[in-house]
Amino acid sequence: MKISVIGTGYVGLVSGVCLAEIGHDVICVDKDKTKVDQINLGKSPIYEEGLSKLLTKHINSNLHATINLHNAVMESSLTIIAVGTPYDGDAIDLQYIEQVSKEVGEILKDKKTYHVVVVKSTVVPGTTDNVVLPLLEKYSGKKAGLDFGVGMNPEFLREGTAIADFMQPDRIVLGGIDNKSQSKLDEVYAPFSDTDKLKTDNKTAEMIKYASNSLLATLISFSNEIGNLCAKLGDMDALEVMRGVHLDKRISPILKNGQRITPSITSYLEAGCGFGGSCFPKDVKALISHGANVGEKMQLLSSVVDINNDQPKKVLNLLLKHYPELENKKVAILGLAFKPGTNDMRESPAIPIVNDLLNKKAEITAYDPVAQDEAKKIFGTKKITYSKSINEVVKDVDAVILLTRWQEFEALPEILNACKKIPLLIDGRRMLPKNCLPRYEGIGI
Ligand code: UGA
Repeated sequence: MKISVIGTGYVGLVSGVCLAEIGHDVICVDKDKTKVDQINLGKSPIYEEGLSKLLTKHINSNLHATINLHNAVMESSLTIIAVGTPYDGDAIDLQYIEQVSKEVGEILKDKKTYHVVVVKSTVVPGTTDNVVLPLLEKYSGKKAGLDFGVGMNPEFLREGTAIADFMQPDRIVLGGIDNKSQSKLDEVYAPFSDTDKLKTDNKTAEMIKYASNSLLATLISFSNEIGNLCAKLGDMDALEVMRGVHLDKRISPILKNGQRITPSITSYLEAGCGFGGSCFPKDVKALISHGANVGEKMQLLSSVVDINNDQPKKVLNLLLKHYPELENKKVAILGLAFKPGTNDMRESPAIPIVNDLLNKKAEITAYDPVAQDEAKKIFGTKKITYSKSINEVVKDVDAVILLTRWQEFEALPEILNACKKIPLLIDGRRMLPKNCLPRYEGIGI
């Protein structure tokens, strides 16, 4: 199928490239000519494992990038909208969605054949039917369901494993105003014949996305609340408590042959320094605001956000327990990205923790295998010494704070134990054994 994808951000580009990989003819559209030129040269503007390889494989073959939206829509039979929906602190900002809907509507005016417009951007329930569809109708002068179709197809890609998540999907949600729209969207994913597909209306499709992310965020805050209580009560460890919870056969099923399955969801059921990234914080807050708009108090999700906002302070408190005065104390931050496998620092717990330490006049050294350039943009001229290795960052420090679960941090115990003055280790991710150093602190102990 010939498909146009509007927006070459994270979701748009990954989707475009993967749609080419499963055999479609894809035109990626963006207003930013520099980005378009870069893509056409086979260079990815973002880092994502495996993306460059697929981009190089398909570009100028069955994948093209352009700034010409008109031609892209005219030449394709389905358009995917994958533009940003930033959260402005009150609601998601729909300006890009609205602008694109108007422009596509204008183009549909001239189109003689049936076309389907699909929203992939994360939008609050009701947006596709109440914002996108009316704009398409208004600017095309045509009727949805008759002259063109409208669908909603949320993405469930994780940063760092987005290509694998696209190519081995766990589910495909096909929202649409009618059978015809859903069927056309279904054709896009025909190669994934074994995957569970859920045909539904657009509003439900939008809600599935928010409910999915909200559940995962809730699991994390739940685990943190339990962890914080364990720490207060003393003489127990949240890690062990949560392991006991994981062993519930409804969470980790036991097969007929007696073998136990440990599903990856258990990793969201662990105490730590809190969730971050471009999705969980934004999506949970957007859903709370959306609920408030219709008079529904999202009490649980509000607590999920509150707990998460407090979690970085718990890390700092562990440090203050040992060093009540932080002025001139040397503290090494290990891990700046919100999770391993990415340089993304959006809403990373490292941001409030570093800022608090700076306010308390601690001397900070920091190391992250890939996120240091991002950190420099975020912290600007603030006084942080960036190091090139674990060995360098921990040199002569009083305390080490581990904030991202990078695999290379498994070497920390050996490195720290070899130091002349062994520093305090605060494990914000509970990734190292708690007896690995003379002074170990972790969330939930
Ligand atoms: C998340 C969802 O997992 C995806 O399904 C969804 O498509 C995506 O948001 C989105 O809405 O676009 P992502 O933000 O890339 O994906 O990150 P996750 O890997 O889920 O991590 C989010 C947060 O959960 C991080 O702060 C991370 O530290 C924490 N996390 C992650 C855990 O606590 N345990 C884990 O096993 C994984």
